[in-house]
Amino acid sequence: MEHGSTLLFGQTLSFSGDPFSEGIDAVSHHRNGAVLIENGKVSWVGPADHVTPPAGSKTIQYGDKLIMAGFVDPHLHYPQTAIIASWGKRLIEWLDTYTFPEEMRFADASYARMIAERYFDLALGAGTTSMCSYATTHPESVDAFFQEAQQRGVRAYAGKTCMDRNAPDGLSDTAQSAYDDSKRLAQSWHGKDRLGYVITPRFSPTSSPKQLEALGALWAEMPGCLMQTHLSEQVEEIAWVSELFPDARDYLDTYEAHGLLGTKGLYGHAIHLEPRERARLLEADAGLAHCPTSNTFIGSGLFDLKGLKAAGHRIGLATDIGGGSSFSMLRTMAATYEIGQLNGAALHPAELLWLATCGSAKVLHAENKIGNLAAGMEADLIVLDLASTPAIAQRHAAADTIWEAIFPTIMMGDDRAISDVFIAGALVSKAAT
Ligand code: GUN
Ligand code: ZN
Repeated sequence: MEHGSTLLFGQTLSFSGDPFSEGIDAVSHHRNGAVLIENGKVSWVGPADHVTPPAGSKTIQYGDKLIMAGFVDPHLHYPQTAIIASWGKRLIEWLDTYTFPEEMRFADASYARMIAERYFDLALGAGTTSMCSYATTHPESVDAFFQEAQQRGVRAYAGKTCMDRNAPDGLSDTAQSAYDDSKRLAQSWHGKDRLGYVITPRFSPTSSPKQLEALGALWAEMPGCLMQTHLSEQVEEIAWVSELFPDARDYLDTYEAHGLLGTKGLYGHAIHLEPRERARLLEADAGLAHCPTSNTFIGSGLFDLKGLKAAGHRIGLATDIGGGSSFSMLRTMAATYEIGQLNGAALHPAELLWLATCGSAKVLHAENKIGNLAAGMEADLIVLDLASTPAIAQRHAAADTIWEAIFPTIMMGDDRAISDVFIAGALVSKAAT
């Protein structure tokens, strides 16, 4: 955490509500804005001519650039960093061909640490300042992720991926060892610095009912932890789940029956949901992670964002690396927009930005700490260059409103649009010029 005070000048963007229900009234934008950071937190945001700089504060001028909350990525697999963009397979074959062989390498703690370091470099470079990741079956892969996050001061969530069937020997645990290892890891990492442990059954095809039950019992013992898994991503996967769990009413029921449905539950994909599943997810106030680049890349389907949001589900936006094809939440927002268009709904840029920040923070139950530029929040911020490439710049030059100015960066931007990144008030990227 950075001590002392820093004053940033530039355009600012904050949310006072949810633009899906409140429209752009939920957005506060200052053309000439200022952000005061004190002791790692945002202490003030407003018009630049209203700020009183504390004595001795450091000042950074960002001119026309946009200061906002860093992106929050609530569903990804950091161990899949090195196999992102692997060609030609649908989910189950993709796991068997590319993913499981790569995840086996994480038995080696030094390999795990090397990939964790690479992942954090890429995520922070893309403006993602908080994330919730799957590790592999190996406890060492959880330690590597948390050690790297801790060293960088990042608010991060992760858990040991549990699998006791339909996985290679080198990636398999048991119901008992999954319980024991997860509990031990949660006891050593949960709540330490800015870290949170996440109970992580990979998905029903790779967990026996006994393992699901053991992890449900662990969650009941440690209800402060999040629980993450995958749900109804591909039709072949759903058919397999119904063969493996003949007594289950539907896919969600395989979790529900074992104590794995709750408000701190985070369900990735959730594309092909039955009416009963929607109703139960809503009643439980569970979190959903929309993974648009993954859903198109692996060919999974079109998530019903507007319908689920209108029904009142909590939804965040996630990269799902390495089924997802980009580390950038800008690219992920672009894919969200494209899928929205295929579903017949054009998402407003305010809705896209909200999903990638506030919405994602809410599914992590961390919206009082991260995901918004507001007094009292942890100062994980990004500074966006809204004219970062020639194609974006010419489009930006013709913009009349902030939304026209931002949308080309959402659709065409990448890490070149991320000018600066602050973690807990400390500048971690290149200094502003
Ligand atoms: N379902 C189970 N495991 C995975 C994974 O690693 N990636 C994706 N996209 N879906 C999964
Ligand atoms: Zn996933």
